[in-house]
Amino acid sequence: MEPMSRRILVTAALPYANGPIHIGHLVEYIQTDIWVRFQKLRGNRCLYICADDTHGTAIMIRARQEGRSEEALIADMREQHIRDFSGFDIEFDHYGSTHSEENRRLCAQIWQSVTDAGLVVEKPVEQLYDPQAGTYLADRFVKGICPVCKSPDQYGDHCEKCLSNYTPKELIDPRSTLSGATPELREAPHRFIRLETLHAFLNEWTQSGRHLQPEIANYLKGHFLGDELRDWDVTRPPQYFGFEIPDFPGNYWYVWFDAPIGYIASTWQWCQQNQESLDDWWKSPDCEVHHFIGKDITYFHTLFWPGILKTAGFSLPTFVHIHGFLTVDGEKMSKSRGTFVQAETYLKHLDPSYLRYFFASKLSGKVDDLDLNVDEFKAKVDADLVGKVVNIASRCARFVAGGRLSDVYPADDRLFADAAAAGDRIAALFEACDYNAALREIMVLADRANQYIEANEPWKLRKDETQQDALRDVCTVGLNLFRQIAVYLAPVLPQLARQTATLLNSPIAHWDDAQTPLTGTPVSPFEHMLQRVDPGQVQKMIEDSKSSSPADAPAAVNPQSSSFDDGPEPLQQEPMTDAHCTIDDFIKVDMRVARVIAANHVEGADKLLQLTLSLGGDETRNVFAGIKSVYNPEQLIGRLVICCANLAPRKMRFGTSEGMVLASGSGGQDIYLLSPDSGAKPGMRVH
Ligand code: MSP
Ligand code: ZN
Repeated sequence: MEPMSRRILVTAALPYANGPIHIGHLVEYIQTDIWVRFQKLRGNRCLYICADDTHGTAIMIRARQEGRSEEALIADMREQHIRDFSGFDIEFDHYGSTHSEENRRLCAQIWQSVTDAGLVVEKPVEQLYDPQAGTYLADRFVKGICPVCKSPDQYGDHCEKCLSNYTPKELIDPRSTLSGATPELREAPHRFIRLETLHAFLNEWTQSGRHLQPEIANYLKGHFLGDELRDWDVTRPPQYFGFEIPDFPGNYWYVWFDAPIGYIASTWQWCQQNQESLDDWWKSPDCEVHHFIGKDITYFHTLFWPGILKTAGFSLPTFVHIHGFLTVDGEKMSKSRGTFVQAETYLKHLDPSYLRYFFASKLSGKVDDLDLNVDEFKAKVDADLVGKVVNIASRCARFVAGGRLSDVYPADDRLFADAAAAGDRIAALFEACDYNAALREIMVLADRANQYIEANEPWKLRKDETQQDALRDVCTVGLNLFRQIAVYLAPVLPQLARQTATLLNSPIAHWDDAQTPLTGTPVSPFEHMLQRVDPGQVQKMIEDSKSSSPADAPAAVNPQSSSFDDGPEPLQQEPMTDAHCTIDDFIKVDMRVARVIAANHVEGADKLLQLTLSLGGDETRNVFAGIKSVYNPEQLIGRLVICCANLAPRKMRFGTSEGMVLASGSGGQDIYLLSPDSGAKPGMRVH
């Protein structure tokens, strides 16, 4: 009996429009894409909905800094995001924006519902205000001395040194990070949603055991639901980039009010384009709603959001799937280590299938953080994808390329039948988001297929004229076992599924394509499917990530989580000098942008590289730099550096050094060359 097809609406969190997509984000968008592809392959009606999250202070400020409108900035970002996602084969059914007319209308409608339900109260709020920038300051935009441990340079709400939380009011000697001005305390009315009114409902919903991972339900119970739920401040006074509130003129909804409503607004846009009814997706008990999010935004999605949906009469999430954070080589992603890899940078160097496979192998439906260890990445991709999976095809296909598979599926010792029977088990693992276990099952099938090929040695059969039918039979089995695996892997590796479809001239469109072997169909010439991971490319990607311009960095911020983790250690290691430097002193040092045009090892020197720097035109400098422990000559050629161009020439054992390349760090593995933002030209002065 054909199982009834489900209707499933799936969302991933809406990425902020104030920065590029990086590999941390991709943990989420890839895992969601895998789940959606899986559901579609199973024959379910499934929509993958996302959008850019475009409102808030951070975006307003960035647009000002760049001297353009917020609309221009977010239009640009959206385009970049869409390009990055499609580069990773992440296929949304619709990618909207929270800055849309649909979203504005839904916000107004939902606001009316919460107001009618008596959930909205107005209260005065004291907030720091930057008189120079003319804006209230989010806590992240204020820095000062920690009121608890007196460490300098701490954020408005949190000390990274002693980990205390406080209010920006308590901060000593506060400064606006926007203008440097001393902020004033100003009072403005805000409107709040009284979440406590929904306490009983939220208790029931979160603790029922059906909508959340158990560790999340426990966390909510332990941290929030044991106490009265705090009123949630959902409006902001000007200046703010967002939607103005109809019944509270001059004020705006806080970005976290309108962002999740963007899930519905984006679905609405899709409905309009496809002549469907929004209610069928968001108000029908027959439609499941699944959210995929990272653990940092749990509170918003498991308390506020269900509360709002409930009040406004929309479907509650069937399940909120929450994942952990990505670390690289055991540490938080870091620009200086080159592990803050942007999607775009990754794609310049490596095949997206690698990352899709690697992340899938790390995900098991738990909230734990996951680590991308660079060696493990290569080892796993090489061993599983190239060594096991693609190997099956490459060892069989060339013997039948241009011909056909056998007309009758040969005896194979039940290999195909057993692998077909594994389909339900593997499907259950994908359904539960335990991709790790699913892939392990699939790799067992790949091992068996390889053993079959080794035992039957098609390469020997080929040499024997009398064995051509046997050869074709062996390859028919091998290629069918391969195709079965490609079907099971299709949610993870859509590219491999497409290549397999081309090779065997038969599309992969349904999970059940793994249930019946192909016979008699033509086989195309074998084309390379996937290469081993090239460690040189990995290295280049990391180098590129070190040097990509700070303007592209995620500098301007997730306003909810403090993601800067700058500790005091560097200053402690090397305290700042008290001696002043006059502007004249400074001008004496002629620093220039320069391009490395040659780089060589120096015979007999274990720390030095010899660099030829171009200052544009014919002007060059020969410089010795003690950076060999971190940089190799090839990776330096072509890059821009900053050099001190009027340093008195110095005779060294190896030659004369005619300048100095600027770098930071304490030496050894801790060396970071300085580079200008892109656009700078050799010869430009640094001042
Ligand atoms: N704009 C909000 C979400 C609004 S949803 C109505 C936001 N945006 S974000 O760009 O900061 O993050 C988008 C998603 O990526 C979030 O689910 C977040 O948890 C996830 N990740 C961002 N960095 C991540 C890692 N380093 N590792 C894993 N996931 C990460 O939050
Ligand atoms: Zn402190």
